[in-house]
Amino acid sequence: MVSPVRLQPAPDLFDVARIRADFPILSREVHGKPLVFLDSAASAQKPQVVIDAVRHCYEAEYANIHRGVHYLSETATHNYEATREKVRAFINARETKEIIFVRGATEAINLVAASWGGANLKPGDEILITALEHHSNIVPWQMIAEKTGALVRAVPTDETGDFLFERFEDMLTPRTKIVAITHASNAIGTVVPIKDVVATAHARGIPVLIDGCQGIVHRGVDVQDVDCDFYVFSAHKLYGPSGIGVLYGKADLLEAMPPYQGGGDMIETVSIARSTYAALPHKFEAGTPNIAGTVGFGAAIDYVAAIGHDAILAHEDDILGYALERLRGLNDIQLVGTAPERASIISFLIDGVHPHDSGTILDQAGIAVRVGHHCAQPLMDHFDIAGTVRASFAVYNTRADVDALIDGLQDVRKVFA
Ligand code: ALA
Repeated sequence: MVSPVRLQPAPDLFDVARIRADFPILSREVHGKPLVFLDSAASAQKPQVVIDAVRHCYEAEYANIHRGVHYLSETATHNYEATREKVRAFINARETKEIIFVRGATEAINLVAASWGGANLKPGDEILITALEHHSNIVPWQMIAEKTGALVRAVPTDETGDFLFERFEDMLTPRTKIVAITHASNAIGTVVPIKDVVATAHARGIPVLIDGCQGIVHRGVDVQDVDCDFYVFSAHKLYGPSGIGVLYGKADLLEAMPPYQGGGDMIETVSIARSTYAALPHKFEAGTPNIAGTVGFGAAIDYVAAIGHDAILAHEDDILGYALERLRGLNDIQLVGTAPERASIISFLIDGVHPHDSGTILDQAGIAVRVGHHCAQPLMDHFDIAGTVRASFAVYNTRADVDALIDGLQDVRKVFA
């Protein structure tokens, strides 16, 4: 297990100044102050290589894909499909056809809930989630539950916001038809032992979907090792463009699932009476996709893979430990979520100050944090709060960013003194 409170600097596995230089936006000012960007869990900033890849696509290599016989269409198709292979290698999927491009994790979960859930759920069946989930791993399941008569149940958490393994095991019943669970909480950072979750569910014949939005960024994944049935994530949190993401699914499951949307590119033949569908992965990719975004996504994967998750984890773990040490030194700060295994995401409250006020005052100092419920209202209900201030750290953050946050909190206190 990774200790979140290692106070020695991380080994210099990469040069953070060089990393920062890759992200043009980090050198700008906000309200006349140097930008301190602590909102990467919402969406990460983009390195120049990603920006250049998107731009190059539009400037030199753009046409629609899978349709043309002309040079630009073939080039765009090649580049688009090259990203699919990069994703496959990045998560170690067995086959490239197991990588479905979608708009983002939200669409991926909606796809599985509607397609797999629509075909497999019956009245009285149970969908098991947890209290840690983002709304995107709750609402699609509620929608399909309403249609099919299934029931959504959630494994509770404790006062630390940890994943409660025994409660999870207790809640697996003969009626449980799927487990849908986060790899890491976007709101409080708790990391879930997904390999053990999958093994436990599989021992009972239950498939598992993992929401990897934060996990893919802070931990990475080997889907064959974890053996999950579905793993979903968005490119924009992984330093790539918005509007493109991944549904990984085991081929046999995806083959058996009906299409989610109908339209161009997902068919084999169409007549007015009936249509037949394309093979994987195209069966699930109706319509013209985010071509340039997918090319930029490929550049983002190259970028992250070149740094490597070991180095990312060591660096982020150092920043997380330092931030926790400094915040714990302030007696008017309440940490929300203190699970032992966590990604570089910290939620907190300042005594007597509404999170929105804290966020607005920090913004005046050039510090970007997210405030509110973080699309995790059931988790906020568990803590009996409306929301938190959330600081989330990425490859480009530094201890100096943490110091700026601590100084910014002093400004908040002054206003509310
Ligand atoms: N899911 C994103 C977040 O955590 C938007 O902020």
